[in-house]
Amino acid sequence: MNNEKAVMAKVQEINASTSKDRVEVRVRDLLDRMSLEEKIGQLNQVEASADNVLDLLGDDIRAGQVGSIINQVDRDTVLELQRIAREESRLGIPLLVGRDVIHGFKTVVPLPIGQAASWNPQLVEACARLASEEASTVGVNWTFAPMIDVCRDPRWGRIAECLGEDPVLTSVLGAAMVRGFQGASLDDPSSLAACAKHFAGYGASESGRDYNTTNLPENELRNVHFPPFRAAVEAGVASLMTSFSDIDGVPATANSFLLRDVLREEWRYDGLVVSDWDAIQQLCVHGLTETRDEAAFQAASAGVDMDMVAGAYLQHLAGLVASGRIELETVDRMVANVLRLKFRLGLFDSRPVLADEPARMTSRSLAKEAALQSCVLLKNEGRALPLDPACLDHLAVIGPLANEPAEQLGTWVFDGDPERSVTPLAAIESLAADAGMSVSHARAMPTTRSLDETAFAEAEAIARNADVVVVFLGEEAILSGEAHCRADIDLPGAQVSLVKRLKAVGKPVIAVIQAGRPLTLTSVIDDLDAILFAWHPGSLGGAAIADLLFGRACPSGKLPVSFPKMVGQIPVYYGHKNTGRPPTPDSIVLIDDIASGAAQTSLGMTAFHLDAGYEPLYRFGFGLSYTEFAYSELSLSAVRITPSETLTVAVNVTNSGEVEGDEIVQLYLRDRFGSVTRPVRELKAFQRVTLAPGETREVRFSLTVEDLKFYKRDQTRGAEAGKFDVWIGGDSAAGRKAEFTLTQDSPAMA
Ligand code: BGC
Repeated sequence: MNNEKAVMAKVQEINASTSKDRVEVRVRDLLDRMSLEEKIGQLNQVEASADNVLDLLGDDIRAGQVGSIINQVDRDTVLELQRIAREESRLGIPLLVGRDVIHGFKTVVPLPIGQAASWNPQLVEACARLASEEASTVGVNWTFAPMIDVCRDPRWGRIAECLGEDPVLTSVLGAAMVRGFQGASLDDPSSLAACAKHFAGYGASESGRDYNTTNLPENELRNVHFPPFRAAVEAGVASLMTSFSDIDGVPATANSFLLRDVLREEWRYDGLVVSDWDAIQQLCVHGLTETRDEAAFQAASAGVDMDMVAGAYLQHLAGLVASGRIELETVDRMVANVLRLKFRLGLFDSRPVLADEPARMTSRSLAKEAALQSCVLLKNEGRALPLDPACLDHLAVIGPLANEPAEQLGTWVFDGDPERSVTPLAAIESLAADAGMSVSHARAMPTTRSLDETAFAEAEAIARNADVVVVFLGEEAILSGEAHCRADIDLPGAQVSLVKRLKAVGKPVIAVIQAGRPLTLTSVIDDLDAILFAWHPGSLGGAAIADLLFGRACPSGKLPVSFPKMVGQIPVYYGHKNTGRPPTPDSIVLIDDIASGAAQTSLGMTAFHLDAGYEPLYRFGFGLSYTEFAYSELSLSAVRITPSETLTVAVNVTNSGEVEGDEIVQLYLRDRFGSVTRPVRELKAFQRVTLAPGETREVRFSLTVEDLKFYKRDQTRGAEAGKFDVWIGGDSAAGRKAEFTLTQDSPAMA
């Protein structure tokens, strides 16, 4: 066939195919024209933050040695790098431009763990959409989010970035983030390719120490840690990142069980897999491989398509192909995964880089709404909140986090603009001015970690003159996030002492806590009249907090993760196994109550700690409101169902208080017996409902056999016949209960 005919044939082939096939044809066509060096270049992601990046990388991009850049966000520079790739490299292949856009870009929304407290997938999707609309204006087209590692250890700094302890909540919200980042179509100029990370098990790092080993049996991986990734794949996530950690002795970056058997074979995933930062090189540090070329071999054979900044593929893949250890077909598959994403993003079809961010008003109101819904009211003794400005003359605002525009943004905000922040102090002052109330402020501590108490006297003096004290406590942004783990998760520094001193003044003390993780609050809980837990609430956090304090909005957040009483309880989570000796209130004896000389077998012989009992301080799903919700009339459409039937579970929820409020209605199941032991409760569904005072609403959930399935003893997924308990309520321990029976097994399918 002469050249012209070949081109015609290709054009006809392209026109005849569907859009998915069309992408495959274009991928194959391009692959056919690439040299091995150009192919390997596509698998190479390079760091690009330097000011002279055009000098540093220009020639490599021209030579086709760079498939993606990370960490350049100057619009003109990105556009120029992209121009060089498109116009000056032999095949004109554009770049993937990556950046960690985790919870907002310039406008920062609450930490992911805070967003998870909203239990609101629509809101979470909108936040991701806003982030992608802002970030895409500088030419970024790939974000490394959502982070959907299930985490049950608040010592781990990265709990800030995840969506909590529960596989279903994480799955629903993670998929919402994927939809938000990727929009209706990946080739929309304001869409970013999302990246579900870190596959898999990273959230279970031993002792909550980042990068540490994980030991997760396959059954737990499949039932707890995989579901959010599966949900992200089903939501069409464009890319996945491997975890830094080793799992059962094999680092995730060289783990063919994870990357081939599960991801590609079972889930039929056709997106891109990228390593984490330098993780291919770190296979040597783990002690898996002695040399870098062996590390490149292991990662490529296991299924890592792109090497994030290690340069190991660039340096070694050609040699591995020449020696026959890596087949050309393997390289082609890896490159196809990169090119496919570039086509899907429309990068070959001159996708424009839009210049305008979304209207500031829109982004501010979304950031405020997200902050409002993410705050969790943990304690409200004697209805200390909301504050009534009409009854207050003077308010004391105290503490190191009352007026910190940067700290309230939290971790992972490389591009966040503190100038956009409204701090709690600023928002309270403006509300107070309208209400004719005076506000005095004392910082009391230079940082949250400070042990210096010299400024406490001034804070006490201000408190003495006030009707109410609001104290802003917690952790600065730097105390959580990647590599920022803590072994002691109490309020750091002298904050506990500050609370005690303020309490001694004798005025009501309300705490607003901003932090990147659950904290152990046992030592201050009795000294505080109310506790509003705000996580790091983002740009508009202060405005949201002020509205909540003064009752202009009603708290509705519910905990996406349990709060331990003390570190020694960790891991403490609601979806635990029953054990053969489950504790009950009657079976436990606490250390101070043990009679001296008590016999060894006198203490109940159940699973509890002598000094902590067995319950967390605050359980998963918990959160107070300014109103109350009553549950009644739980009903099931049937008490026996076959695998093909749908079960409807309904309950009446009444707002029995005096103000309008949102309740997050939660449905939990327990599968009483299984071929492997099953959790005592599993969240299966939830709905946020808004109810006026006195209003009753019937809330209905439909359960199918899919909700009853789990990975069984043979690691296949299916539902087993037998009895189930079902609860609907306002947290993971509450609720009306009923039971039903599944009459037959449902056949196993992956
Ligand atoms: C983190 C990833 C992140 C990457 C790129 C790594 O250290 O583990 O989550 O996406 O850096 O910044």
